[in-house]
This record gives sequence, C-alpha cells and structure tokens, in this order.
Amino acid sequence: MRFKAIAIFLMSGMALFTAFYWMTDGARRESEFRAQQTELIELGTLYFGPDEIIHTVTVSSAGFEPAVIEIEINASINFTNTLGADITLRGTGSHPFEAEVKAGKQAKTRFQSDGVTSVTADGVAGTLEVTSGPEFLSPLGANCARCHGADGTGGVTPLGNQAPNLHSRALANKWKDTGGEVANIDDGAPPVLNNYVNWAIRYGGIVVSGNAKSEMPAWGAEGGLTLNQIDALTALVGTWANETLQQPVEGIPDTVEAGKQVYVDAGCVNCHQADYSGVAGTFPSLLNIGNEPVIDLPNPISGLDKLQADYAANSRTFLEMWIRDSATNYNGGTATGMLPYPEGSLSADALKALITFLLSLKQ
Ligand code: HEC
Ligand code: HEC
Repeated sequence: MRFKAIAIFLMSGMALFTAFYWMTDGARRESEFRAQQTELIELGTLYFGPDEIIHTVTVSSAGFEPAVIEIEINASINFTNTLGADITLRGTGSHPFEAEVKAGKQAKTRFQSDGVTSVTADGVAGTLEVTSGPEFLSPLGANCARCHGADGTGGVTPLGNQAPNLHSRALANKWKDTGGEVANIDDGAPPVLNNYVNWAIRYGGIVVSGNAKSEMPAWGAEGGLTLNQIDALTALVGTWANETLQQPVEGIPDTVEAGKQVYVDAGCVNCHQADYSGVAGTFPSLLNIGNEPVIDLPNPISGLDKLQADYAANSRTFLEMWIRDSATNYNGGTATGMLPYPEGSLSADALKALITFLLSLKQ
C-alpha cells in the first residue's frame, strides 16, 4: 500500500515535470535564439567598424569596451580578449610593448610604470592601441565602414567607386528571396545565414555584379575573415534588411532626380559607374542612351536587330524590357552580363523613374 502510494507520487511528479518542461521549452529556446542573435549582431557591429572601435582603446580603472581591462597601481594589465579574434595588444611610449592575446583568453601584461608614456603610473588613464589579428592587419582590413559608411548607408571606396547602401530595399529583397528572413523564432531554429548577404560577403563583388575586379573583397578568401565572423556580419546586415522590409514602400516620383537615385540604389552604378561612362570593353557607357541604344555590345547578342527596332519604336519600352531581363528578351535566354531586375528587386515606379533619368542622358 505504502509502496503503491510512493509510486503514484513519483509518477505524477515525473508527469508534472515533463509537462512543465514541455510548456517552457519554447520560451527557453526562444530566449536562447535571441541571445545567440544578439551576440552575433554585436560581433558583426564590431567587425563592421569603423576601425577606431577596434584599434584604439582608452584605458581606465573601470575597464573599457569591448575588451575588459584592469590596471593596477604597479601597472600590469589583465586583459580579456572578447573580440572574437586573436589580437595584438600594444602600448606605445619609451618602452613599447606588444602582447599576443588569443581570442577568449586572458593575458596579463606587465610594463614599467614610467615606460609607457601614454599610461600613467597610478594606472587610471591612458591610451593603448589594440590591433587585431591577421584579418584586420591584412591590407584589406575588415572595417566595412570605410567603404559602406559607419552606419552602412553607403559611401565611396578608396578607388572612387560607389559602395552600396546596405539598408536598400533591393538588397533586402535579395536577402529575403534567398531565404534570409529571420527564421520563425517559435520553432527555435537558428537564424538562416546561408543567404545572398552571406554569399556577397564571403565571395565578394563577383556575386554582386559579376565584376571580378570589384572592390568588394571576397572576405572568405583574401579578406581573411572566418566563417563565424562572416555569419556575424550576415546577421548584422540581415537585421538591417529586416528593418527595411518592415517599412512601408514609398512611392518613387517619376522625375529625373528620383531616377538618378534609383540608378545608385539599384546598383547600376556598380557596373556602369558613377559618371555613366561604364568600363571600356566590359560595361557599356550610358552617356548617350537617351539618343540611341548601345549596339557595339561587349557581349554580342542574338537579338540585336530586335533591340534596334524596339528602341526606334519606343525607347521607354525597350529599356523596360532590357532592364527587366536582357537575356530572355534579347539574347535567346543566354546571359548578357547584365543581371535581370525583376519586380522584387526593382519596383515598377522605381523602374519608371530610372528610365526617365536614362532617357535624359544625351551627348
Ligand atoms: C574596399 C571597399 C569595400 C569594403 C571594405 C567592403 N565593401 Fe562591401 N561592397 C563594396 C562595393 C564596391 C560593392 C558593390 C560590389 C559590386 O557591385 O561589384 C559592395 C557590395 C556589398 C554587398 C552587396 C550589396 C548589394 O546591394 O547587393 C554587401 C552585402 C557588402 N558589400 C557587405 C560588406 C561587408 C559586410 C563588408 C565588411 C566585411 C564590406 N562589404 C566591405 C565595397 C566594399
Ligand atoms: C553586373 C553589372 C551590371 C549591372 C549591375 C547593370 N548592368 Fe547594364 N549592362 C551590363 C553589361 C555587361 C551590359 C552589356 C551587355 C552585353 O554586352 O550584351 C549592359 C548593358 C546595359 C545597357 C545597354 C543596352 C543597349 O544595348 O542599349 C543599358 C541601357 C543598361 N545596361 C542599363 C542598366 C541599368 C539601368 C542598370 C541598373 C538597373 C544596369 N544596367 C545594371 C552590366 C550591368
């Protein structure tokens, strides 16, 4: 009798525990998912730059972000590397020092109190230079911000090309179309990182424009970022894409000015250049597209006669067909070197304004 009571007690306890575990499991996985996302995005922000965040840190007794540092009166530093990459810690002054600190490891660096001029003897303030590992020391450097701008809204590269706005709707749509939408949090699945943004970062400009000489480095190769670091950057750019998709689509007015902006936002600028003159032998100049079509195309097409006839009949309709899908409409389905721009990456009103602008280009 007593045994039976104990057994019933134990069994109902187990059932209750299972039910409770099952009920809270979703919430637990959701919070794990969120924590993982947040951590990735924080790391991504760090790698994105700008450089200063990584390279110069001000030491204080209270420690500094993102690495944790403590300075004692006898001037030794306990340094915990939370940057996610091996780094070199450097002190400048009459007795400069260098210390390698592996990712996730703690290091204690001793230096003479009078030796490092930028760090005071009583140890409360000064400047230490933290230089990160090979990936950041490579000639390319991660620091995406130097091209894409500190907030990723686009900028000019060292060679004077346009680095696209990473908050654009065109990018957000490509991200979403390749499975980039943040996975359903309820099912606890990890964020989907295998998407267009990830490929663009990993393999560089060749993925974006087919241009092998693009200034956008292949970070998985010559850029020297690890796949985890690329995942972190993907998560960051993915949140931007997600934010963009939440915003209502604004109508684009059919003006030359608005079309000029579409030319940049849609990425035409990456191949046909900021001054519309193209790249000889690779990307045709659009400087006279308002007067006539380009017929000496770098990649000859099968539908050249149709192209000329269509332009003569209605230049606006021709441009629409060319931009939407030059391969299908003018080359029997064979790629022309210019990617198609379906509705998803270029809305009807954006295309209209873009064409208005293109037709204003006359020499
Ligand atoms: C040296 C300048 C430069 C640096 C540094 C750079 N980019 Fe780029 N990025 C570009 C250019 C230029 C393009 C356009 C590529 C093209 O069309 O050839 C681009 C394109 C992209 C795209 C695709 C955008 C689109 O609309 O399709 C993504 C995503 C991107 N970069 C992310 C990054 C990230 C993340 C980093 C840092 C790891 C980075 N970039 C560093 C120049 C740069
Ligand atoms: C990936 C690089 C690339 C991008 C991005 C790109 N183009 Fe092109 N474009 C080309 C190439 C290559 C050709 C020539 C195709 C050929 O030789 O068959 C071309 C040709 C053209 C032509 C000439 C058609 C003719 O024969 O008159 C126009 C107009 C044009 N592009 C407009 C645009 C516009 C507008 C955009 C942005 C929506 C754009 N392109 C984006 C590479 C690009």
